[in-house]
Amino acid sequence: MECPLYEKIANQIEQQVHEGIFLPGAKIPSVRKSSKQMNVSVATVLQAYSLLEDRGVIKARPQKGYFVQEHKLLHAEALKITPTVNEVSTHTMLRRLLHVSQDDNIIQFGAAIPNSQFLPIRQLQRSVGRLMRLEPEICAAYEFTPGSPNLRRQIAIRMLDSGCQLQPDDITITLGCQNAIMLSLQAVAQAGDTIAIESPTYHGVLQAIEVLKLKAIEIPCSADAGMDLDLLEKAAKKWPIKACVVTPNNQNPVGATLSYQARQRIIGLSLAFGFTLIEDDVYGELSYRDKRERALKADDKHNTVIYCSSFSKSIAPGFRIGWIVGGRFQDKIEHYAYVQSLAIPTLTQTAIANFLENGAYDRHLRKTRLTYQDNLARCQSLIAEHFPKGTQTSNPNGGFLLWVTLPKTVDAMALHAQALDNDIGILPGLAFSLTGQFHHHFRLNYALNWDNKTDAALKTLGQLCQIGK
Ligand SMILES: Cc1ncc(COP(=O)(O)O)c(C=O)c1O
Repeated sequence: MECPLYEKIANQIEQQVHEGIFLPGAKIPSVRKSSKQMNVSVATVLQAYSLLEDRGVIKARPQKGYFVQEHKLLHAEALKITPTVNEVSTHTMLRRLLHVSQDDNIIQFGAAIPNSQFLPIRQLQRSVGRLMRLEPEICAAYEFTPGSPNLRRQIAIRMLDSGCQLQPDDITITLGCQNAIMLSLQAVAQAGDTIAIESPTYHGVLQAIEVLKLKAIEIPCSADAGMDLDLLEKAAKKWPIKACVVTPNNQNPVGATLSYQARQRIIGLSLAFGFTLIEDDVYGELSYRDKRERALKADDKHNTVIYCSSFSKSIAPGFRIGWIVGGRFQDKIEHYAYVQSLAIPTLTQTAIANFLENGAYDRHLRKTRLTYQDNLARCQSLIAEHFPKGTQTSNPNGGFLLWVTLPKTVDAMALHAQALDNDIGILPGLAFSLTGQFHHHFRLNYALNWDNKTDAALKTLGQLCQIGK
């Protein structure tokens, strides 16, 4: 028997909540508006809303309207170490959470994008202008995969600092680091295979895993020590892990950098259990120490590490220039890259190669890293002063991302919704896992033009946490 109209409407709205169209804490359309939108009577909508209240999907607030219950999207499971196939599309939810990064009116604590003051925009502007004036035919040419030989040579030179001795031919240029991660996963795994990932992890890894129909094992990753290698070993004994995606330097979001011993151990585990390490080193050059940390790839004697990085965090995210060192998967990766995009943009490759060649990059990095350290200290002290007692922050030694752990009583999704009402963007912890963890965590980008407005926004966030308790 067909279900009544009000139930159909309720099912439809519940589905929208699951897909992240209405986020936890968000207001849904009023009864009158829904009645007009769906061309049904007010009474039918009221019946549908009351059914949704009974199901615990929404909640009425007197004089204010109907709101999505704050815990509805969370699969509040205990921390579990089992392969997970994503049920609710991470992509849909993330699109909703990340779209605010496009809005100029919002203070962008949420996105992992440095403010343009931390990017060498002026130099790039001059370089692109000169290229278009003197070599306009650059636009008429294809630069086929593996990409510009000059850029690959410059990257090989830079990678000496990370301990890697490479030839330009070991390197393939990609469309950013996300493209490099995607190509790595495609090269090593097939649908249904199991991939170990850090938990919490960068959401682009979760999305790649979802699209490629892989299973993820989330291995806890702490701000002090990074991925828990005892648990990785335990998981590898139990399940056939194909690859492990790891960020050894300044992990996003917790900021961890692996110790020397941990690096040796994770390489040892990959050899012992036969899985490939996919190293994401996109924040590697943003270390606050005098010398950047080594790449895992530098100690990869058996060629089991695939190295991925890009210039998105330090030169120009909009240029979409990254690279991959594929080791024994290089041919396959190059072939896939060619089939997927044929070629890499010539103008941005050449502009970056010129920028690297003229020696200004190290000066630029030194300057930005100093400001990031100042901003970090300011952020930590404002949080200590204005956030509820029990709030903790990570203490990164590089990059520009801070992981904030709120008292358990504060729901970060609700905080996200309230912060947006105040034109403040944060990225709630739920975006960093497939298993509904990190309800009372959020990530904060401090690569911003720090001023009184930013100070005030952090204070407001702190106050919202106190209200939301
Ligand atoms: C850890 C990590 N890896 C990869 C990426 C993607 O980088 P790109 O913009 O170069 O694709 C990001 C971007 O936020 C990131 O944080």
